[in-house]
Amino acid sequence: MQWQYNLFAMKVSNGMAKDWIASLLYLVLFVFILPSDILAQKNRTKVKDPIDRKVDSVLRLMTLEEKVGQLNQYTSDWIFTGPITQDNDKVGQIKSGMIGSMLNVTGVEHTRKLQELAMQSRLKIPLLFGHDVIHGFRSTFPLPLAEAASWDLSAIEQSARIAAIESSAAGIHWTFAPMVDISRDPRWGRVMEGAGEDTYLGSLIAKARVKGFQGNGLGSLDAVMACAKHFAAYGAAVAGRDYNSVDMSIRSLWETYLPPFKAALDAGAATFMNSFNDLNGIPATGSKFLQRDILKGKWNYSGFVVSDWGSIGEMVPHGYSENLRSAAKSAILAGSDMDMESRAYKNHLAELVRSGEVPISVVDDAVKRILRKKFELGLFEDPFRFSDEKRQEKYWNYAPHLEAARDVARKSIVLLKNKNQVLPLAKQGKKIGLVGPFVHALKDHLGFWSIEWPDDTSRIISTWKGLTNYPGVTNSFLYAKGCDIAGVDKSGFEAALEVARASDIVVMTVGEARDMSGEAKSRSSLRLPGVQQELIDAIAKTGKPIVLLVHAGRPLVFDKAVDASAAVVYTWWLGTQAGNAIADVLYGTYNPSGRLPMTFPRTEGQIPIYYNHLNTGRPAQTDSQSLYVSAYIDLPNSPYYHFGYGLSYTTFDYSNMEVSDTIIRGNQKLTVRVRITNTGQYKGKETVQLYLRDISASVVRPVKELKGFQQIELNPGESREVSFVITTEDLKFYNDALVFDWEPGYFDIMIGPNAGKVMHKKVEWLK
Ligand code: BGC
Repeated sequence: MQWQYNLFAMKVSNGMAKDWIASLLYLVLFVFILPSDILAQKNRTKVKDPIDRKVDSVLRLMTLEEKVGQLNQYTSDWIFTGPITQDNDKVGQIKSGMIGSMLNVTGVEHTRKLQELAMQSRLKIPLLFGHDVIHGFRSTFPLPLAEAASWDLSAIEQSARIAAIESSAAGIHWTFAPMVDISRDPRWGRVMEGAGEDTYLGSLIAKARVKGFQGNGLGSLDAVMACAKHFAAYGAAVAGRDYNSVDMSIRSLWETYLPPFKAALDAGAATFMNSFNDLNGIPATGSKFLQRDILKGKWNYSGFVVSDWGSIGEMVPHGYSENLRSAAKSAILAGSDMDMESRAYKNHLAELVRSGEVPISVVDDAVKRILRKKFELGLFEDPFRFSDEKRQEKYWNYAPHLEAARDVARKSIVLLKNKNQVLPLAKQGKKIGLVGPFVHALKDHLGFWSIEWPDDTSRIISTWKGLTNYPGVTNSFLYAKGCDIAGVDKSGFEAALEVARASDIVVMTVGEARDMSGEAKSRSSLRLPGVQQELIDAIAKTGKPIVLLVHAGRPLVFDKAVDASAAVVYTWWLGTQAGNAIADVLYGTYNPSGRLPMTFPRTEGQIPIYYNHLNTGRPAQTDSQSLYVSAYIDLPNSPYYHFGYGLSYTTFDYSNMEVSDTIIRGNQKLTVRVRITNTGQYKGKETVQLYLRDISASVVRPVKELKGFQQIELNPGESREVSFVITTEDLKFYNDALVFDWEPGYFDIMIGPNAGKVMHKKVEWLK
């Protein structure tokens, strides 16, 4: 096994603790205080949680500086996921108990060495190791947005589970995931990291991911702490520009942006991360409203909140804090427990407590929340329990995980067009031209937020390898790159045209490089970069049918490319098994079943565009641009692809939609049924979607809201009835007084294959 880093490790000495007084304290703590606490509690009627008692026992031993140390988190010196702050004395600070957690340290060897340093500190409080394990670890899974396109909650949970198994085996205790930010703006590069635009789907996915990461619960050797981020509303950055301000109504916040966080909390998310943005003028990191009133107040959250990278210090440029000292004060008072990389707490918190500006109880509360997690993880009992070389070795190249990655990857692919059933491809007797900058790409399949394994691309399956090595395939293949992902060089066009002319069909690979979507990767144009569109146009002129594979971390605007192609397959960034998953779909071994988790705009001018918008007082009835309606004069309102859209190699017919009653009273339930028939030639999976509209209410309601979905698999000719049960819970919304309740009246119940194509039934729901 090769490791890229040794910088920090070289500074680490292996010496054992020499502080006998501290050792004695430690002995007293574990041999006498903790067991006697546990014994004592048995005799009491009103017992305190045993972990709380242990936490209190440790807290009592801590100096103010040691308490502040627990709230301090640094990155390693070799991986930076934010602006670099040089700090040459991390070793010394760990040894003196001034650091509670490190991020960007991976591998048993490294985590062990740093933990050994922590064991030299006076109280031997173990370090927490956090890392951005966003979509897989050794086995890279599809981007979270791509996984959301599977609408397959158990596959998504499984993906997070495997990420937890692999990363915990490499010494990691804590992942900074899931990112549960709703976003309706594909210019924002971080849409790749979330579950898309819908609150209902996003909440279910948030839950699945937390369950996956935390498995059987903290304390299991294969569980890592989840971190619901970025609290809150980060995904609504003005103009889709990363880190930008957010200005939104409190109702939208509650209704659209907060529910996935609540779902993550309910699923047991051990930690939360706050966010860079200001929300209505208050930086989230310094927001008491978000952290104290909502999260730790109304929601009674018992985990801890970590700041985002440097976000405490960034309250100074925001114009909210005068200096780092006042930023530290605002953040801790607002409920930010751990300072990631600002050094605001480290440099100012102790003095703020001494001066009386920050009550010690506030610091104690933050420390207790963090210590609690260290106890739950079992680190006090054994700080090295995640440092098992054998386990790391086992999961380093673990084949069953690659199979799972392949399965999730093919489920994430979305078929957008398939004219004349050009797909699936025949396995024999064809000349296939493979053209485009991603045919042999490796790392570009991993996408942003994938862990770099230097020089180890051996496990990544390229599109070329996937298609040409496929079992039973005897087609002949030609290749030309044509052009780079970006840049203006067209010198490769001619070779690409020759390949096209000599082929029966051209499979073209286009899209974004792995670092074109992600943090700080906002784009104002969502078109294909470089000269890729021109390459498509040139190939189309040969008259050869094009199967277009689009690799991207966000919805792109690529209408011209779609027009020029016979088939379009949205492959996102699929991870380690990309080429195999693509081949499974292209050869028809897997009938594509992905559905878009975000609306795809016609042009950037429609953004923000989302299916669950309000109707307005002058709704445009159709896509025709009549006068004085809410429409564009140069563009239809409808999107290029609707939320929930995706094709299959087979076709599904929706019929016989029925409701159990047209008048429903109070807490009665409404059952909605629909018959789905596979009318095509292939066995296939359909995602049946249920939407609802409250036709008139005290607060205007969206034209439709997703309230349920079911995935069913049908053989050709097979037909099945699908039913949904609707209760008053599904009718609830935040009214003008921000009370979450339902109102009687008329409701439009809709069922269909996507948000743009639904059948309707109208019902009246009485109190
Ligand atoms: C990102 C977080 C991430 C953190 C640590 C920040 O820049 O916004 O999502 O977890 O860095 O890498």
